[in-house]
Amino acid sequence: MFPQNQWIKIKAPATVANMVCGFDILGFAVNNPYDEMEMRWMPRVNNEPSITIINIDDYNLPTDPEKNVAGAALLALIEEYEERINNNNTAHSLETKQQSVSAIKFEVKINKLIKPGSGVGSSAASSAGAVVGANHLLGNIFSKDDLVRFAMNGEKLASGVKHADNIAPCIFGGVTLVRSIFPLEIIALPSPQLYVTIVHPQIEVRTADARSILRQQVLLKDAIKQWGNIAGLVAGLMKSDYELIGRSLEDVIIEPVRSILIPGFDALKLACKQAGALGGGISGSGPSIFMLSKTKEIAVAVEKEMKQLYDGMGLPHHTYVTTINQAGVEIAA
Ligand code: HSE
Repeated sequence: MFPQNQWIKIKAPATVANMVCGFDILGFAVNNPYDEMEMRWMPRVNNEPSITIINIDDYNLPTDPEKNVAGAALLALIEEYEERINNNNTAHSLETKQQSVSAIKFEVKINKLIKPGSGVGSSAASSAGAVVGANHLLGNIFSKDDLVRFAMNGEKLASGVKHADNIAPCIFGGVTLVRSIFPLEIIALPSPQLYVTIVHPQIEVRTADARSILRQQVLLKDAIKQWGNIAGLVAGLMKSDYELIGRSLEDVIIEPVRSILIPGFDALKLACKQAGALGGGISGSGPSIFMLSKTKEIAVAVEKEMKQLYDGMGLPHHTYVTTINQAGVEIAA
């Protein structure tokens, strides 16, 4: 185990879920923005809570572990750790066995630099950062797949549904495909050099709301188009075929419904493509929009179009020009 009372620093990247056509299954991590967290463990005295959450930012998120996404993810990790200890089926050292999680306490400081409700995986970053941090403190006993399972409890708290398309790339880095949630199967996909431009119009779209408006049935002809695009996108990433990636960034199922929540969506997408972007769309459940480009110059030109459009509409916004993050959550002692 990591020495008690010593803080570790955690960097948890923002993520773009869905990648346009892959609703709930595709996603990638980006290098900017990211959340900063700190974590340490110490012996737990009597029946004090096993998790203390301290907010460093001004978002005033709940600090009750059961109501906080990082807390919910950590509680799932603690439960499974206790089970392992009790079942004695862990191959870990005596020290680890003696320090069962019920006898220790985690303190977590969270500085959210990814605005909640922005659509770039804010809740996933907190959930994933917390469980990767706890795992480091416990001596890395859980696999990345285990950590994704725990962190999904944070997503369930935030959106009402367990989905891993933000969590998986946040923990694994790069582009990930969630082939199945139950049982969990995550496939890390390669990708060529891609530049990512993100615009976050300063409105809030709650993931739960953006999910509740979706139709529960799809037409077969739409499903055929959609799975053609998903397969095309995966093939394009694996073959470094930029044109195929661009053609496959099309969503005939979710985007037509959700785009009405985002001011100027169609005009913005058109302007970005005319500026040379390969393609893009709603980031996660929105309101952020992302575009992929082959070069930094194009990504910057795309950013200019985004700013111009939202400045023209008088809509405050933030933009990022970044790249795909390959490391996932990072820990520094
Ligand atoms: N796949 C999820 C959705 C991502 O689109 O609802 C939420 O960030």
